[in-house]
Amino acid sequence: MNIPILEARDVRKSYGRGSNRFDALKGISFRINEGDSVAIVGKSGSGKSTLMHLLALLDAADSGTILLAGDDTAHLRGSRLNKTRNQTFGFVFQQFFLTGTTTVLDNVMLPLKIAGVRRGERRRRAMAALEQLDLADKARNKAANLSGGQKQRVVIARALVNDPRLIFADEPTGNLDTQTGAVVEDILFTLNREHGITLIVVTHDEDLAARCDRRIVIRDGLIIEDSAEEAAA
Ligand SMILES: Nc1ncnc2c1ncn2[C@@H]1O[C@H](COP(=O)(O)OP(=O)(O)OP(=O)(O)O)[C@@H](O)[C@H]1O
Ligand SMILES: [Mg+2]
Repeated sequence: MNIPILEARDVRKSYGRGSNRFDALKGISFRINEGDSVAIVGKSGSGKSTLMHLLALLDAADSGTILLAGDDTAHLRGSRLNKTRNQTFGFVFQQFFLTGTTTVLDNVMLPLKIAGVRRGERRRRAMAALEQLDLADKARNKAANLSGGQKQRVVIARALVNDPRLIFADEPTGNLDTQTGAVVEDILFTLNREHGITLIVVTHDEDLAARCDRRIVIRDGLIIEDSAEEAAA
């Protein structure tokens, strides 16, 4: 059997302590195969973003294990952790704002700068990503001056500029009108289908969830439904 690109084993996470303690994740386990598209759905407060942050190695679980391509990520610290995250993942998170005061191009080049890619190459790859998202003509604009849909496309350009194996998207179409949301959605699925990038997307949008290969439903920090389990049963 293939080694899953990402695996969670009994992952738990609580916030606060004492009487203020809140158990946001109460033991989450699943395996995600490379090239899959997975929707994580569930009510507000069910733990979806918490789970995404743990899977993307942006935060640590209290207990349990997250394996990346079979390797236990608990051993990754400091610069090795940053490097792994930067080289392997692309993020489409609404809270990862663009820097409004710098140009669109600077925003997209940022992950390459972190990765230590040289300036000329950074520019070339960032422009290629912007072209893919039909934003080449906005490269010199300040990010703050773009429309909501354009900003979201810049976030996607920035997510794919490092040629990631996995893209994490948290409500990628949440603040967009239907039409722009559909464009953003199409881009994500094209990356998934044509480039084999694994897609993990948190969404309230049932139509978007239905387009994914797999749908995982979270309630109160637990998986209550997983279409992959049903298929296997
Ligand atoms: N830093 C924190 N401190 C305390 N509680 C937190 C913290 N972050 C999240 N929580 C709580 O953990 C629970 C899960 O939050 P999370 O952000 O994962 O939900 P979500 O499923 O992403 O919700 P939404 O759909 O509204 O984005 C919520 O009850 C939230 O209030
Ligand atoms: Mg959330």
